[in-house]
Amino acid sequence: MRYIHGSGPDGAKILLVGEAPGEQEEFAGKPFVGTAGGELDRELADAGISRHSCYVTNVVKHRPPGNDISQWIISPTKKRPAPTGFVPYRDRYVAPSVKEHIEDLWREINAVQPNVIVPLGGTALWVLTGHDSITSWRGSIIETKGEDGRTFKCIPTYHPAAVLRQYPWRWDAVQDFRRVRAEAEFPQIKDPKWNFLIRPTYDATIGILNWLLARLDGGESLKLVVDIETIPRALQLACIGLGWSKTDAICIPFISRSAHDGNYWPTMLEEMSIIQLLTKILTHPFCRVVGQNFLYDATWLAFLWGFRCVPWMDTMLAQHTAYPGKEKALDYISSIYCTFYRYWKDESKEWHLKGDEAIYWTYNCQDCAYTWECAEVLLRVLEKRELQEQFDFQMSLFAPALDMMIRGIREDDNQRRQLYNIVDKQMQRKLKFIHEVFGHEVNPRSPVQLKALFYDDLKIKPVLNRKGMKKDTASISVNDEALEIIKKREPVLVPVCEAIKEYRTLGVFKGNVLGTEGPRDRMLCSFNLAGAETFRWSSSQNPFGWGANMQNIAKLQVEDPPDVQAIAKEIRRLFIPDEGMILAKFDLEKADLQVVVWEADDMVLKQRLRERVDIHAENAKDIGMSRQMAKTFVHLTNYGGKAITAAKSCGITVHAAEHGQKRWFQAHPGILDWHRRVEAQLQSTRTVANKFGYKRFYFDRIDSVFNEALAWIPQSTVAICINKTLKAVSARREIQLLLQVHDEIVVQWAYSLGLAPVEQINAIFNSIIVPYEDPLIIPAECKLSVKSWGDCVDLKQFKEECKNVCIPGVL
Ligand code: URA
Repeated sequence: MRYIHGSGPDGAKILLVGEAPGEQEEFAGKPFVGTAGGELDRELADAGISRHSCYVTNVVKHRPPGNDISQWIISPTKKRPAPTGFVPYRDRYVAPSVKEHIEDLWREINAVQPNVIVPLGGTALWVLTGHDSITSWRGSIIETKGEDGRTFKCIPTYHPAAVLRQYPWRWDAVQDFRRVRAEAEFPQIKDPKWNFLIRPTYDATIGILNWLLARLDGGESLKLVVDIETIPRALQLACIGLGWSKTDAICIPFISRSAHDGNYWPTMLEEMSIIQLLTKILTHPFCRVVGQNFLYDATWLAFLWGFRCVPWMDTMLAQHTAYPGKEKALDYISSIYCTFYRYWKDESKEWHLKGDEAIYWTYNCQDCAYTWECAEVLLRVLEKRELQEQFDFQMSLFAPALDMMIRGIREDDNQRRQLYNIVDKQMQRKLKFIHEVFGHEVNPRSPVQLKALFYDDLKIKPVLNRKGMKKDTASISVNDEALEIIKKREPVLVPVCEAIKEYRTLGVFKGNVLGTEGPRDRMLCSFNLAGAETFRWSSSQNPFGWGANMQNIAKLQVEDPPDVQAIAKEIRRLFIPDEGMILAKFDLEKADLQVVVWEADDMVLKQRLRERVDIHAENAKDIGMSRQMAKTFVHLTNYGGKAITAAKSCGITVHAAEHGQKRWFQAHPGILDWHRRVEAQLQSTRTVANKFGYKRFYFDRIDSVFNEALAWIPQSTVAICINKTLKAVSARREIQLLLQVHDEIVVQWAYSLGLAPVEQINAIFNSIIVPYEDPLIIPAECKLSVKSWGDCVDLKQFKEECKNVCIPGVL
């Protein structure tokens, strides 16, 4: 085994530590000279650091067998105890040679005396700092201490080999190296001068709140970061943090373990006075509240303290507008945008139960300080990316979303219980069938059991998860896609695979929709404005664990089995209008397709859409296929699908698919031009944009995102049309917004308004113009009911129904 020494200049200010040498390093006798080394050099160069100015080394200087260091560093478990001879190091056991290598590493560090050490990847991070997760700790400025007590500044980042597998991480690694470059100028850790008031007295709290209020009353438009910590299960607000600069914040606790009754404030009067002042401040017209994921906080404030707090800026929405699809949690954005950053989120969960409260109250203040700085930087980022207008619009959706979350939608609780029982029985039937087929019990919702069954017992060739990055890291899967492949491989298993899929879908209905917590007669969910990179909203349980992800109901496909379809329809029937109200849903017609056609500026296809002819039948004539096949084929082709994919989906030969695509592009060259335009944009800027000026920057390898980028354009355009409509509807107080699911909005209004709101909402849809040279308006289809969401029918039928039941004021 060859010993690969570290290399680099004496007195290097930056010392990089990898894991262990690989084959090429062993051959060359130097660390990081292979593929990962090449990537490392490029990342350093992008951050303005020359590799030659750095000292580069590894934790272990020998190449591990199979390049797998995990056999030398072990976290012992009952099943896998540490091998004999292994020695304890931090919270794990290491081979004796590794212990020696670590001692060597410290000798190197002490000889070089760098200003910054950069652990590359999880192993080096753990060896040098004892921390576990590189995804959490990357970019942090932390301290590492050798056995002789000498300390060094450390900034961990991803290992370049991990970046090559998970390419979007590259951008983060380069950011981390930029921080490294700045910090390499001096050895000290310069902690920020935070001025946090934790464990405040009553007088100090009131003093600060009055001081803030006086500034507001004096006409100052005051920026205030607000962050609450909660104990959701107990429905308790634990503390609220307020920050009024990058360094100043107060944490006002409401509960405390050390207090005899658990309340921080000894008397109700004191607590009430504080809440009253907070209410005045947070609803003050001059108060510019800044928060992170503030719909969460605003929901608590609304339900617990009874006021609506609409922020001036939500940093999560800002990050989502700037970089849709990228991580947007506070720790992540702080790691990118803040001058000083140290991961601080680890122990803050369940903080009311364990640990030192003072630490958590400090965390609360830290959240405020980090949010403040992120907000400042993000505003500059948005300006630079010319996305201010788009961000203003995203922020303007906050109030309607909060209103919908507070209002909820009425639910028929009796029906819900009945349906719960029906679904439960159906699941039991399916389970019985599955057990009979296999001859023993199996839990269809347990991937572990299904994998053992299909791949170990039945010896089916394992299906890999297509989202796996590399063949050797792709995981074996039994998800719905995998079951489809198993069905093709083993036709005898078709019925049981179907039963498993149905069981799982029904389980989602049962657990996530029918069995949810919350008030019995109202479904209250959370809407997430940053839930999808396309700017569609997503929904989920609200902060109290009530409500459901409504996408679970609406994403049903035509291919879904009748049982499942029927239940889905019944679920929609559970949602009913409030007493004396008409419920209506508005859906955009063939919306994505329209945008594709306008992007392509194809006159013929535009005409087909405008004249509302059966476009799939007409398209079928262009390419000589059946209508049904043409529908799938054209869709795939429009979205950049290759002939081989189209061939597989349509059950035709690749040759026939190639021929079909050629005919399609000949008949509609605009589609191909659009593809080429998008490809060129991606190549030159990594960005695509829609006509509303929203942009999607891709961090991944460009060749792997082309189809995604093509689809983003129509999907985001349609979502923004829906959102614009929703905002305009929200301005009409007489119409109540209830839901936004996929391309659909659900509203209600009083009988006394009759059908006038249909016209008004249609007029709003018709006023939303996608600003192509040839402007595009996507018409909406309206369906109504006085019974339920699932009973909505078109206007004509609704009028008929109204005649029969004589609803006052409707006709
Ligand atoms: N990976 C490492 O961790 N070190 C090297 O030297 C090369 C690849």
